[in-house]
Amino acid sequence: IDTSLTERATAVINLIQEWVPAELHYPKVAVICGSGLHHLADALNISPRAEIPFSDLPYFPLPTVDGHIGKLVFGYFGTVPTVCMVGRIHFYEGNPFDVSVFPIRVFSAMGISTLLVTNAAGGLNSEYKVGDLMVLNDHINFPGLAGWHPLKGPNDPLVGPRFPALSDAYDLELRQKLFESAKTLKLGRAIHEGVYVFVSGPTYETRAESRMLKMLGADAVGMSTVPEIIIARHSGMKVLAISLITNAVVTQPTPKASDGPANLSAGKATHEEVIEAARQAAEDMRALVMDVISGL
Ligand code: 6GU
Repeated sequence: IDTSLTERATAVINLIQEWVPAELHYPKVAVICGSGLHHLADALNISPRAEIPFSDLPYFPLPTVDGHIGKLVFGYFGTVPTVCMVGRIHFYEGNPFDVSVFPIRVFSAMGISTLLVTNAAGGLNSEYKVGDLMVLNDHINFPGLAGWHPLKGPNDPLVGPRFPALSDAYDLELRQKLFESAKTLKLGRAIHEGVYVFVSGPTYETRAESRMLKMLGADAVGMSTVPEIIIARHSGMKVLAISLITNAVVTQPTPKASDGPANLSAGKATHEEVIEAARQAAEDMRALVMDVISGL
């Protein structure tokens, strides 16, 4: 029997409320911790704090990427009750879209009004350096334009509209708050504002693909975030999203064999460099996220 989205979300919320102290039953903000940024959740005030592994929650997807545990952590940033999602689900893992974005539906059904998303992304804009941050002010949903869309299929009008607009997807006030926080904290890294292009992965882009994405107007490229943003906007949540630029994407044309010896592996993207860049920026990201949320 087909259980409605609302029924599934309600079942999960009932379970969460059995586990989590009553004062944390209605978080104001949800944070998605990106690759290498899991420790954002450690910054939640210790008492009270509660953790629930995805494996204890019905209808939740299980992450498959090494080292991504998959859990919800409830606690406070400042005085703001918050839930952090550690170990997000990626499209390339093979979960059906409605399963992979289900946690965002649960957040919305809990009454959470703001979603803050972090991710690791490759820099396409030649002004971006490894370790810079980029606040998303727009996106390109590459798989979505070709029919792999998280809202494809029947729409429940009680949850959101059939044809949601995304021209205002990235909340202006939240972006302003983020720049204020960065100024207060005197962060020693550049913060850009730009366009994130979502690609399915799991391969990193070829040089030709990278040039194409750049030509299309993207400043950074990654394998997450956009599906979550779309679900959050569909359910009426406000969204703030931050990319950490973990590597500079290679866009120079592939050297021709006829031109003689060349180093083809220079600048090649690796998961290790992505994780290392994220590790080094984790402290600043934590400070920024804490300051923005504490001020909400
Ligand atoms: Cl270069 N590409 C993609 N698709 N995702 C990334 C990345 C690059 N760097 C970090 N995440």
